[in-house]
Amino acid sequence: MEYTKSQTYDRQFLLDNMMGPNAIKILEELTQLPEMFELKPQMRVLDLGCGRGLTSIFLAKEFGVQVFATDLWIAASENFARFKEAGLEQRIIPIHADVADLPYADEYFDAIISIDSYQYFGREEGVADEKIAPLLKKGGKLAIVVPGLIKDIHDNIPPEMLLSWNPEDIETLRSPEWWRKLLSRSQLLELEAVGELEGFYECWDDWLACNNEYAIGDRKAMEGGAGKYMDLVYIIAAKK
Ligand SMILES: C[S@@+](CC[C@H](N)C(=O)[O-])C[C@H]1O[C@@H](n2cnc3c(N)ncnc32)[C@H](O)[C@@H]1O
Repeated sequence: MEYTKSQTYDRQFLLDNMMGPNAIKILEELTQLPEMFELKPQMRVLDLGCGRGLTSIFLAKEFGVQVFATDLWIAASENFARFKEAGLEQRIIPIHADVADLPYADEYFDAIISIDSYQYFGREEGVADEKIAPLLKKGGKLAIVVPGLIKDIHDNIPPEMLLSWNPEDIETLRSPEWWRKLLSRSQLLELEAVGELEGFYECWDDWLACNNEYAIGDRKAMEGGAGKYMDLVYIIAAKK
């Protein structure tokens, strides 16, 4: 796919701030899917697990929405500096918080978007209904992309994957079917679509090209062929 919007971003800025497969290309593809909801300027959007805020910048810049850029590992002050530098401090609010204890009112958001982070906090049954869905307005939308597996192979992990990751890391990777089953048990969300993005290799190639120590660690497995078992899973749901 052609990433016409992502291509306008400074490559070095992206490489310096990536925390996984190219998040803004992932977001660009997600926002162009036929099943994806429309993002409109008056919307209040929670970017959940935003990391260094690349996706928050993309959301504010490309769609004009108000973004609550929320993350656990990255300090709010660090993200605030980046948002100011991008001239977007009026539209992006940096928040340091854990999904276990989010500081937002119920029914506050029109949409929640979470790129490459839901796999860390959202694999337990109940997280969606207890921590996430309550924050959405009725009819509000949730869109998630996680690095995943084409099929769940946890009982027989391919050796290529073990070149970079241990079984605990691989626990976070799950198939579209696994995510569909988990989220279809939600009482508060109506699952609208689950599928795989087509930009898997391009988004991973960008990540492997950066000097982040985790990217360097991931190279062995990907160069060894682990990518053939993996995908990028998207999930779109609406608050009932
Ligand atoms: C691999 S990074 C991806 C960051 C960003 N979304 C991106 O794609 O560049 C995963 C992010 O998930 C966030 N995260 C993990 N567990 C979290 C939790 N319990 N609450 C909030 N954020 C969490 C981390 O802080 C981290 O920034």
